[in-house]
Amino acid sequence: MYIPEEKISDILNTADIVDVISESVILKKSGRNFFGLCPFHSEKTPSFSVNPSKQIFYCFGCSAGGNVLSYTMKYHGITFPEAAKMLAHKYQITIETKAISPGKRNQLNLKEGLLRLNKTIMGVYFDGLKNSKQGEKARQYLQRRGISDEIIQTFKLGFSQDSWDAIVTVLKRQKISRKVAVQSGLILERKSNNGYYDRFRNRIMFPIFDVNMQVAGFGGRVMDDAMPKYMNSPETPVYTKSRILYGLHAAKQFCRQEGFVYIVEGYFDFLSLYQHGIKNTVASLGTALTSDHVRMLKGYASRMVLVFDSDAAGINAAKRSIEIFMKEGVDTRILVLPEGNDPDSYMVKHGQDAFNDLASRARTVMQFLLQVAIDTHGLSVEGRIRILEEMKPHLSLIRDSALRSLYVKELAETLNIDEKAVLEKVREQYLKQDTRTAGLMNEKPDQAKLASDRREEQLISMMLNYPEILDEIKRRDVLAYFYSEKLKRIGKKIISVDPDTTAFITNVMAKMDTNEDQALIASYAMNDIVSEQDMHQTALVIINRIIRVRTKQENTLTTKIISAEKGCDAELMELLKQKQAEIQQLQNRL
Ligand code: GTP
Ligand code: MN
Repeated sequence: MYIPEEKISDILNTADIVDVISESVILKKSGRNFFGLCPFHSEKTPSFSVNPSKQIFYCFGCSAGGNVLSYTMKYHGITFPEAAKMLAHKYQITIETKAISPGKRNQLNLKEGLLRLNKTIMGVYFDGLKNSKQGEKARQYLQRRGISDEIIQTFKLGFSQDSWDAIVTVLKRQKISRKVAVQSGLILERKSNNGYYDRFRNRIMFPIFDVNMQVAGFGGRVMDDAMPKYMNSPETPVYTKSRILYGLHAAKQFCRQEGFVYIVEGYFDFLSLYQHGIKNTVASLGTALTSDHVRMLKGYASRMVLVFDSDAAGINAAKRSIEIFMKEGVDTRILVLPEGNDPDSYMVKHGQDAFNDLASRARTVMQFLLQVAIDTHGLSVEGRIRILEEMKPHLSLIRDSALRSLYVKELAETLNIDEKAVLEKVREQYLKQDTRTAGLMNEKPDQAKLASDRREEQLISMMLNYPEILDEIKRRDVLAYFYSEKLKRIGKKIISVDPDTTAFITNVMAKMDTNEDQALIASYAMNDIVSEQDMHQTALVIINRIIRVRTKQENTLTTKIISAEKGCDAELMELLKQKQAEIQQLQNRL
């Protein structure tokens, strides 16, 4: 379903955010804002705020933020068009869906066809497990593995017949498009080019749901030691492996309640934990975790616990995942299970109390990495040097400097090395990292950059709250003087919206490509310390300062280069040129 831009504007201009959020959060008025308990992370005192005049929400606790559309999407875990439809319905706005290009229409038709087919076939597999004669061994297999009927029902587990054409026949009988079926990966074309055969044969079937409860694809497990143990649907327009986590559709509400999520690897790990009441869990299905996965989960939980086997493969998988989580800045814990266990076998053997007990002792990332390094290198003199070498890149990646110094201290103590020496090593590493990572770590190289960032943020915040200033900003091309590429990009989006638009902020938000940028807009918009009557004057002061600082810095460099040239100071000149190039690079970086 495609919704025209004007309709989105209509919705944003008509819907009232306080009205919408009140349906799910108890809001109390305090000053110009309403406050309530954040539905996106667990908290005891309200830090979730809604501003009726700006029509935005922002949580000071977890930094979730956006407009009425992003709230609806995030709260219900639905897509943008679904949220728009829901709000349109509430406010009696009619959406016609005729203006759509033929290409887009085809693509949407294909997606709908794939989802419909997957749902039908899920029914076939489910019925195969429940009722077919062959299904008996599958029923026994699941019983042997302790999977309850309720779980089979909830997750619609199934069985694919031991046959080359069970699905092919269903498709024929129901006159389902061959083309869609091949795209879905449920059937494959024979090499000899005469006909088709089923991909999944004689396997326990796991439908893989997306977050909107649609069947995106399938996984199938053999019931003996045959290879391959698991087989999965290929990637299709409705199944992107880097964006789907098994079980999230069911787990999301529990993740929100608990404020954290367990991430396990396998189907059975997930089902076993869920059945034993640990429902805030998702499974990665053996694929590497991506930043998309982490960002999706961030909408439901602020802490993530990675559960891994203690074998070498498990440890390596944990190490690989850690970087992604650190980059996304989430509180991550690592739970390594005792030797020879995966979450499923541990749960079956020891039960949920034992699991909870173990989980409460999950290690922080640093503790985990340190333990692995100690296990690998030992604590001899050489060993300790190697451990330090191995740990310093990790330490230099920690965004929070207070936290970093705590870990430095802990590492120094464990290794019995002088804290200053450890700190020196970490600093060395930090300087080695390129500017790209420096930005990523949210650490400003120096004081001057901090100040310029603050000024630019302040101006962005004024642009949102006082759009009258936009003409001046365009006229003097102020954004060209920004150091921060991120803020420049956001600024450009802001000036592309007509300042006279009603619901200005929320219309700016609609222009942002990512949830993160939307949340940023919300946080800048909320940050309005300047009073209405001082707005214009203050904005002008900031504008002048931004332009002056930048021009001055560049001028100073140029003057110095000229005088170095005159004095034939080749060495100094080289240094200055380098510096200028660096600044240039910083500017060009997008
Ligand atoms: P059980 O042995 O049935 O308990 O499965 P498991 O989930 O414990 O398996 P394992 O830990 O070996 O693998 C974890 C996950 O990786 C599985 O749930 C699958 O999603 C995936 N996986 C494992 N083996 C294969 C395979 O042979 N092919 C594919 N495509 N995926 C696999
Ligand atoms: Mn297992």
